[in-house]
Amino acid sequence: MRLLALTLALSAFAVPALAQNAPHHRAGEEAVDPYEASPANAGAEPFEGDEMWTAFGGAEGVSRIVDGMLERSTTDPRTADIFRATDMVRLRRTLREQFCFILGGGCIYTGRSMADAHDEIGLQASDFGALVEHLQAAMRDESIPFHVQNRFLAKLAPMHRDTVTR
Ligand code: HEM
Repeated sequence: MRLLALTLALSAFAVPALAQNAPHHRAGEEAVDPYEASPANAGAEPFEGDEMWTAFGGAEGVSRIVDGMLERSTTDPRTADIFRATDMVRLRRTLREQFCFILGGGCIYTGRSMADAHDEIGLQASDFGALVEHLQAAMRDESIPFHVQNRFLAKLAPMHRDTVTR
């Protein structure tokens, strides 16, 4: 009985502590359902070394690429509606974190898994293709060499599996 009371007391203590540690959302962002943050949520292993990060122009280059991709995604009639209800402040932040993590920039990705983040949007293969086009155009604007673009795209391609549900 005493053990049970102790377990209950401990779990009551542990749960809020964990919830506090999980950075579900930041100031200026809408709340999201609780989830466990993990580097695995980024959906790809990072490149080794800082060669890719440097080729992308570090934090400033990646930030411009994310902005360029999202600008196109939210204005292209093929994809604009998909982002209508999205918290763009959060999406911009989590995409920067994810790209930085994958490119070897040393960031911690705190967002949801690719499956979790996309399971209710009902994406089709054509949506994925359009997003890749937007990313390619944003990378071209930053003069990222073609073979460097392709190395990055090869990391993202398997995410088709977790993001496209229809
Ligand atoms: C390689 C492919 C993709 C990657 C790396 C990616 C990355 C992400 C990330 C990091 C998030 C935020 C996770 C979070 O909030 O915790 C997210 C959410 C989202 N993504 Fe993607 N995504 C991909 C494909 C797509 C495609 C193809 C579309 C549509 C054309 C799309 C539309 C969205 C939308 C609308 C959200 C916000 C969902 C919400 O409001 O809850 N994504 N994505």
